[in-house]
Amino acid sequence: MDKTFPSTKLALPLWGAGVALCLLVFLGGLGWWAGYQTDPYVQEVLHLTGNLNRGQAIFQTNCAVCHGLAGDGNIGPSLHGVSQHKSSPRLIEQVISGKTPPMPKFQPNAQDMADLLRYLESL
Ligand code: HEC
Repeated sequence: MDKTFPSTKLALPLWGAGVALCLLVFLGGLGWWAGYQTDPYVQEVLHLTGNLNRGQAIFQTNCAVCHGLAGDGNIGPSLHGVSQHKSSPRLIEQVISGKTPPMPKFQPNAQDMADLLRYLESL
């Protein structure tokens, strides 16, 4: 065993592994980001103009049980100002992914999603 650790023999491979790992994480993140930025459904929603009143109605039927009639929170968190910490693609992702149980996975058509997004961004 070497008395000095990390020994000079180990330093280079360790450094290399560190750099490789960082690069991998970075590329993975980038791929994930690019993946949902270019998702055709997300693109379609982002190109549509949402209708605020329809969005509110959709929200009240599907989301108000958990998020409150005015999005002020109940079982789910309050959604006031949510668009300040989530971008539009991330808001869409939140609604359609089902990745944050108990919030279910919703599959609105693109126009309904655009209306809903408009409403969420008005909160
Ligand atoms: C069964 C209850 C439930 C229903 C129905 C529901 N949600 Fe949620 N929602 C939650 C919970 C719980 C969270 C917190 C999840 C987490 O972050 O782990 C959440 C989180 C969110 C967030 C992220 C909040 C933040 O601060 O980042 C958004 C946006 C959201 N919901 C929108 C909606 C919309 C829009 C609908 C209707 C289409 C909906 N939710 C329906 C329970 C629900």
